[in-house]
Amino acid sequence: MNTATKNLEDDHVSILKLIDVMEIMTDNSDPAITDLEEVVDLIRNFADGLHHVKEEKLFFPLMAERGFSLTQGPVAVMLSEHEQGRNYVKGISENIQLVKDGDLSSLNLVYSNMLGYGELLRNHIAKENNVLFRMADHALSAEDQQSLLQQFTEVENQGSSDQQKTDFIARIEKLAQTYNPS
Ligand SMILES: [Fe+2]
Ligand SMILES: [Fe+2]
Repeated sequence: MNTATKNLEDDHVSILKLIDVMEIMTDNSDPAITDLEEVVDLIRNFADGLHHVKEEKLFFPLMAERGFSLTQGPVAVMLSEHEQGRNYVKGISENIQLVKDGDLSSLNLVYSNMLGYGELLRNHIAKENNVLFRMADHALSAEDQQSLLQQFTEVENQGSSDQQKTDFIARIEKLAQTYNPS
């Protein structure tokens, strides 16, 4: 049976694929700026804009209704890591702009922020998959899971077509074809 926690885990697979792309990109001393900008756009609109919004606006509040604190413990840690992630993305984006303005030395900061983001999110996703979502599977009823999943699907399909989940995943797959380890 499909569940809300499974839906979030499926997003994680795509986010981890994007992180693989980012890590491969950091080997290149003369990167395609448009690809770096595509990564930032996908983090902002898919990883943060869609996935983290589903967690922050729908999943965590339901967990709070089922007795989990939003200010301490696992949900609070997850929220603070989302915020740390946004700081890395800001660092990536601001330094891409400096590179575009001709300051090539800023590429190092683009890459260090990309690697920092990747390390943070890999650990974050492992904690969600292995700990928080398993707690949720105990705390949430089958009805909770189904109504949450329904709300997720509505968020995934709203807005213009390029904001839909399937379009984000296609764009990540396209990048992964260009930036792959082989
Ligand atoms: Fe999260
Ligand atoms: Fe997540």
